[in-house]
Amino acid sequence: MKAAEIRSTFLKFFESKGHAIVASSPVIPGDDPTLLFTNAGMNQFKDVFLGFDKRPYSRATTSQKCIRAGGKHNDLDNVGYTARHHTFFEMLGNFSFGDYFKKDAISYAWELLTVHFKLPSDKLWVTVYAEDDEAYEIWNKVVGVPAERIVRIGDNKGGRYMSDNFWMMGDTGPCGPCTEIFYDHGPEVAGGPPGSPDEDGDRYIEIWNNVFMQFNRTEDGVMHKLPKPSVDTGMGLERLAAVLQHVHSNYEIDLFVNLLAAAKQAVDAASPAGNDCDASSPSLKVIADHIRACSFIVTDGVIPGNEGRGYVLRRIARRAIRHGYKLGARKPFFHTLVKALAAEMGEAYPELARDAQRVTEVLKTEEERFFQTIHHGMEILEAALANMDKSGTKTIDGDTAFKLHDTYGFPVDLTGDVCRERGVAVDEAGFQAAMNRQREQARAAAKFKMAAGLSYDGAPTTFHGYEHLQCETSKVTALYIDGSPVQQAKAGDDVVIVLDHTPFYAESGGQVGDTGELRNAVARVQIEDTTKIQADVAGHQGRVLEGSIAVGDSFVAKVDAERRAKTVRNHSATHLMHKALREVLGAHVQQKGSLVTPERTRFDFSHNQPVTDDEIRRIETLVNAEILANAGTQAQVMAIDDAQKSGAMMLFGEKYGETVRVLSIGSSKELCGGTHVKATGDIGLFKVVAEGGVAAGVRRIEAVTGDNALAYLQQLESTVGGVAGTLKVTPTEVPARVNAVLEQVRALEKELAALKGKLASSQGDGLVAQAVDVKGLKVLAAMLEGADAATLRTTMDQLKNKLKTAAIVLAAVDGGKVQLAAGVTADSVGKLKAGELVNFVAQQVGGKGGGKPDLAMAGGTDPSGLPQALASVAAWVGERA
Ligand code: ALA
Repeated sequence: MKAAEIRSTFLKFFESKGHAIVASSPVIPGDDPTLLFTNAGMNQFKDVFLGFDKRPYSRATTSQKCIRAGGKHNDLDNVGYTARHHTFFEMLGNFSFGDYFKKDAISYAWELLTVHFKLPSDKLWVTVYAEDDEAYEIWNKVVGVPAERIVRIGDNKGGRYMSDNFWMMGDTGPCGPCTEIFYDHGPEVAGGPPGSPDEDGDRYIEIWNNVFMQFNRTEDGVMHKLPKPSVDTGMGLERLAAVLQHVHSNYEIDLFVNLLAAAKQAVDAASPAGNDCDASSPSLKVIADHIRACSFIVTDGVIPGNEGRGYVLRRIARRAIRHGYKLGARKPFFHTLVKALAAEMGEAYPELARDAQRVTEVLKTEEERFFQTIHHGMEILEAALANMDKSGTKTIDGDTAFKLHDTYGFPVDLTGDVCRERGVAVDEAGFQAAMNRQREQARAAAKFKMAAGLSYDGAPTTFHGYEHLQCETSKVTALYIDGSPVQQAKAGDDVVIVLDHTPFYAESGGQVGDTGELRNAVARVQIEDTTKIQADVAGHQGRVLEGSIAVGDSFVAKVDAERRAKTVRNHSATHLMHKALREVLGAHVQQKGSLVTPERTRFDFSHNQPVTDDEIRRIETLVNAEILANAGTQAQVMAIDDAQKSGAMMLFGEKYGETVRVLSIGSSKELCGGTHVKATGDIGLFKVVAEGGVAAGVRRIEAVTGDNALAYLQQLESTVGGVAGTLKVTPTEVPARVNAVLEQVRALEKELAALKGKLASSQGDGLVAQAVDVKGLKVLAAMLEGADAATLRTTMDQLKNKLKTAAIVLAAVDGGKVQLAAGVTADSVGKLKAGELVNFVAQQVGGKGGGKPDLAMAGGTDPSGLPQALASVAAWVGERA
């Protein structure tokens, strides 16, 4: 039975038992920052289990794309070393949301395996959670599995359920005891039954896990009962296929045959000629596994990077590339496999086929980058390993691992993978220490930034700037000059001031800090920027303009309202633009950086190709429609869990506190601490002004709003108006007129070229007579007025035809530069070379050139030497003819 048939048999079986067939969710969990990647079929139903979400069905079945390469479930290090681990795999699952429970779940599983997939029942073993007598009885009494093939596993240590046969999606979330079904691959394969000391062998393989979901584990480790007992199951498609196709390794199933062949072909093609790598090498399996993970991750919106999901992706890709390198590949090969993968799996997962081109490009860029350093890195690693052989040590030191990481782009687990092949370990603690040292140095360097790193242990600053732009009594709690705390400052001093209450927004979340003024009866301070000294302590940077100030003084603190209003318009527009970008370009768009100033908003996001003019128009239209709708902004502070449930946009990798601020602007909803318009209409007008690439797979869009948008359009209008005036047409006639003028210019250029040719040839005719005879060769060295390089060449051809046996140098001067051509007729190139001739002349006029034996060109910078240089040609020819 082919994998495709297994997939559909599974889904149809559960459909016949009243389950809704639900599509796989992306491998990037939507808005769930607790999860790095989708690691199980139940992820997309998390909220249904928890009772937060309702679906029209109470039974569902899926074939889910899963990644287990980071976070709680991580198999990356095992790939290539076992017959059954993958970074990407498909999980077949059936789910009951408070519908059926243990008895039906177990009966369904047994029926499907033994009746529909026809597995011999004596090859199947099961485990139950140690205390789960109910499941035990069902297996034994209802299904009839003999006691010797039912194993109790698991130990509820102090009620924390932290052991085997208890499944949790992560450190928090739905969980419960489980029962697992194993298949015995037979005595030829090493390994013992579940629960035995050698259970880790490949003989008894777990194929299906049935979880009886009963709890929600919260961060404090407490298990809360779920509203209704539920069922979550997961069966690895690849493992089941291995059983049904009578092979012992997952890598021998039909899904992998073509992929492995394509991997071998790609590696050989990228290696020095004649390479024929071992088709059974574990490295090919690693490559075949990793192209699946990488392609699905990129398809669902992640690009390689240095943190979070992007770094996991980079680690998987580079691990695969290193295995290709080991087999001989010396240039990019990995990305070419996307095509073979799309052919294999594109039908089941159409997004893969649809996105294949973009995925190929993204992986290619990553691969090209790594191939720049892999060779050098491997040399260093090989040298370290060779040294180790000599000294007998068995651990690569942390500094070497760090150098490989920092300079050569070797993720530490890649280094570990190479070392493992040689029976050597990596000093992970030493690596971490080297990494921390570097971070410290970077932090120390950043201290020089004015407010960062100031020591402050007073009360936090209360921020009033969401509602007010002025505070009547803001008291100075600390004062700094040149980075050191002081008690007072006088007119002319540059200071950083901490206030107990402030309306000033301190730079964060991409929004720049406020400017403004502090004033009291005796002093005035101009505030030029506001930044955070600590998470909730604002440093007001500025200059004392009048009087003197001291710690404890009170001020009226007033934000520059106009500048703030401009900033706010751009910030709110950024949220709307982010939403519109996802709508127009797709859900793979993720924020990569943003800067909001009074002038404009600059937004970086993942997207692998330029945004077209048409797409920009659509984005502008969407945002401006929201502005016209003039909906009121709502800011709500709520628990992070509630924010998540509300569907607010969260940035992965961002650390959010327990409570967060959710901003609803128009139809957008984002977590944001920034300041915003009261209603979308305040933005006035939104206009994109620039779009471009900033890094591989990252685009940058810039836009303006309000009076800036108006100014931008007025500027454009006046530019167009100016052009129209010059062309003596109305602005709408400009394009037609410009095209007509360009046409005219092209016609004139053609005409000019023809005239130059004519002029040159008439000059050329006159020159024939000037040729002198040197030992049977006509020698001509002359100026050609007003000629360019092309004219020199055509004239040269004409003169060669007329003089028959000749050596000719033609020169022209234009704008203080000399242009030279030397020609030797074909019958004389045995004696003279045009290249030598042209250089002989060129060096006398400060230049150099080259070309073919019969025609060579050169330039020069010194026209004054030209008469002399031309006069010397005859003698030079005479010496050689
Ligand atoms: N969620 C369960 C697992 O992944 C079925 O094993």
